[in-house]
Amino acid sequence: MSELKNDRFLKALMREPVDCTPVWMMRQAGRYLPEYRATRAKAGGFMDLCKNAELACEVTLQPLERYPLDAAILFSDILTVPDAMGLGLYFETGEGPRFRKTVRNQQDVDALPVIDGDADLGYVMNAVRTIRRELNGSVPLIGFSGSPWTLATYMVEGGSSKDFRHAKAMAFDKPELMHQLLGKLADSVISYLNAQINAGAQVVQIFDTWGGALSESAYQEFSLQYMQRIVKGLIKEREGRTVPVIIFTKNGGLWLESIADSGAHALGLDWTIDIGKARQRVGNKVALQGNMDPTMLYASPKAIRNEVGRILASYGNGPGHIFNLGHGITPEVDPANAGVFIESVHELSARYHSG
Ligand code: CP3
Repeated sequence: MSELKNDRFLKALMREPVDCTPVWMMRQAGRYLPEYRATRAKAGGFMDLCKNAELACEVTLQPLERYPLDAAILFSDILTVPDAMGLGLYFETGEGPRFRKTVRNQQDVDALPVIDGDADLGYVMNAVRTIRRELNGSVPLIGFSGSPWTLATYMVEGGSSKDFRHAKAMAFDKPELMHQLLGKLADSVISYLNAQINAGAQVVQIFDTWGGALSESAYQEFSLQYMQRIVKGLIKEREGRTVPVIIFTKNGGLWLESIADSGAHALGLDWTIDIGKARQRVGNKVALQGNMDPTMLYASPKAIRNEVGRILASYGNGPGHIFNLGHGITPEVDPANAGVFIESVHELSARYHSG
C-alpha cells in the first residue's frame, strides 16, 4: 500500500473515524486564483492547459500551495470525452463550451465510437501520473467524469443550454436513440475512469450537473441507471485500498435514497438540502459531501465561519462527512475567503470527532 501523509478524505469516504472533517472545493483550481490565470495565459487556452501534463499538474497543485486542502482534483474537464468521440470541443471566450458537431439523429449516434481511456485520452492519463508523482503522497487525487446524461445534454445541444430542449425532446420522442447514446457514453466513461484509476486516481467523482433538470422517473431512466452501470464497471480496489466513488447530482436532493442505492460510496449534495436531514435519510449507507452555497464565499469571513459551523452542527457527531461547496467555486471569489472557509472547517469540526 502506498503511504499517504493525509488520508482523512479517504477515511471519511469510507465512514471511518477522522480527527477533523476533510475539505476540498469543486473547481478549486480555477479562475478565482491569479496564478491559475497566469498559467492559462502561458498555455494559450483552456484546452492547451488540459493537454499539457506539466501545466495541468501545476494548476492542480496551486490551490494546495495556498490552502490546507485534504484532496487534489485532476485538472481537466468533463467534455474531454465527447471531444475524444469526435465532436470537436472549443471554448469561445465568455460563451462557455461549444462543439463543432452535434448529435441529433440515428446517423449521428451510429457515428460515435466508444472511447478507450488510455488510447483516446492519453493526455489525461499523463496528467494523472504527473500529478500523482508531484503530490508525493501528501493528499489523495480525485479523478472525474461527467455522467452520461450530463455529457449527452452538451452533445445534443452543441454546448450549454438553459432548457435542454433538444436533449429532452430526444429523450421523450426517441427514447431508444437516447438510450443508445447513453449506453455508448456509459461504456466510454467506464473505460475513461478505469484508465484514470490505473494511472493513479484514488477516488473518482461523477458530475451529474444536469440530472436534477429531469422529472423523477426520467432521472431514473436517463441518468441514475447509467451511473449505476458505471459504478458496477469500475475497478474496486487499487494499491490495497477501496477506490471510492462519489456521485454528485446537482438538484438531486429529492432522490437521495435511490442515489444511495446506486453502489456509490458517497453522495455530493448541493446547498438546497439540509445535510442533517440528508444524513437521517441515507447516512448509514453512504458518506455525504457538501454543501455550503458557493455564493456564501462573497460574504464576510464572519458569515462564512458561521455558516460552516451551522453545517457542521447540522451533520452532527461522527465520521462520514466531507466538507465541500454545493457547486463549483465562482471566478469572482476573493481567494482569502476560500482560505477562511477551509480553515474554519478544520478548526470548528474537531469537536465533532472526539470519540
Ligand atoms: O474542480 C476542479 O478544479 C477540476 C477541474 C474541472 C473543470 N471543469 C475545469 C474547468 C472540473 C471537475 C470540471 C467539471 C465540469 N466541466 C462540469 C461539471 C461540474 C460543474 O461545475 O457542474 C461541467 C458542466 C463542465 C463543462 C464546462 N467546462 C463549462 C460549462 C465550462 C465553462 C463555464 C465556466 O465555468 O467557464 C467549462 C470550462 C472550465 N472547466 C473552466 C475550468 C477551470 C474555465 C475555463 C477557463 O479557464 O476559462
